[in-house]
Amino acid sequence: MIPVDHLAPVFAQYPIEVVHAEGVWLHTRDGRCILDLYGGHAVAALGYGHPGWTRAVAQQAAACNFQSNAVPMDVRARAANKLARFAGGHFDSIFFVNSGAEANENALRMAFRMTRRTRVVAVEGAFHGRTAAAGAVTWGADKKWYEFPRAPFDVTFLPRRDIGAVEGGIGEDVAAVIVEPVQGVGGAFDMGAEFLAALRARCDAVGAQLIFDEVQIGVGRSGHPFAADLYGVRPDMITTAKALGNGFPCGALLMTPAVTAALKLEGLGTTFGGGPMACAAIEAVIDAIEAEDLLANVRRVSGLIRTTCTVGPVVGHQGAGFLHGLICDRPAKEVQAALLERDILAGTSGDPRVLRLLPPYTLGEPEVGLLRAALEDM
Ligand SMILES: Cc1ncc(COP(=O)(O)O)c(C=O)c1O
Repeated sequence: MIPVDHLAPVFAQYPIEVVHAEGVWLHTRDGRCILDLYGGHAVAALGYGHPGWTRAVAQQAAACNFQSNAVPMDVRARAANKLARFAGGHFDSIFFVNSGAEANENALRMAFRMTRRTRVVAVEGAFHGRTAAAGAVTWGADKKWYEFPRAPFDVTFLPRRDIGAVEGGIGEDVAAVIVEPVQGVGGAFDMGAEFLAALRARCDAVGAQLIFDEVQIGVGRSGHPFAADLYGVRPDMITTAKALGNGFPCGALLMTPAVTAALKLEGLGTTFGGGPMACAAIEAVIDAIEAEDLLANVRRVSGLIRTTCTVGPVVGHQGAGFLHGLICDRPAKEVQAALLERDILAGTSGDPRVLRLLPPYTLGEPEVGLLRAALEDM
């Protein structure tokens, strides 16, 4: 392995070096073949070497690798149209960005612009990113890594799923409520339809914007286009990233007509967001999800994990679709290490007992059998 002398030493390293990948499999330099149930932090939605995605990115690279948002391009218009249609027609404008954190920054910015208020309500356990505003609404960031001298606005947190806390916690000074419908880093913890509906009702009552952070659960991972569809609750804005580009860095802010109406020329900006290669990747991801019926596959195979994988250290399940939490009877880190010894890559989470699975949407029944066998073997 090449020494990593010049990479900032901020990421703990897995003891594997990947040199090639195809489908749901990672091939390492020392000849191992590892089943990837982590998908590069929820990014590799189509897995590796997907022909349609690879072709789309290569063709766009050859045709025109970049032009800014000031230059109209068909591929950008097609990606926006496709994403808006995929999201069910509730969102009429899309602002493309580069990452999940950037999508959240801009969603919060729009909420402040629309309401002229000073406070944001977030949810305990939430992770929204590492930039100033996204970090300010991330649970525990102030103690762990935030580092900025102060938050850019007031933030308060609601306990997860606590419907009783909603009315008192969200007053008329609140610009926005930001929530992951299914928390990712927080441990594949789903907020449930009732809590989300209570947030919607309270936001309507006080005139606050409801933002669903679907950076991790969005673009099909829940088995539905967005978790908003799964829970039947319509936010004012959705932020998304990760699976959206299948590895090409990109994110998006989806806005309902009232939010769109508050936009003004040059009110939001970015250099790389909405670049043609990102847009080609986004288009290819949505095309593949639809052509290969991958939402149905996510629903079916995640159901199979629930029904067949309560074995070995696993005592329960939480989350939704392919943001799946295996609740363990021992530290998830130990289970993760034991799985990796058996050539299966999984992730941990903020909950020390929850192992997180974020596999590609193409995962099939045989691979669930391999997971079950490995768990049983522990
Ligand atoms: C729910 C959620 N929001 C926001 C982010 C930040 O996304 P990014 O790392 O692309 O800035 C993440 C990243 O893990 C996330 O899981």
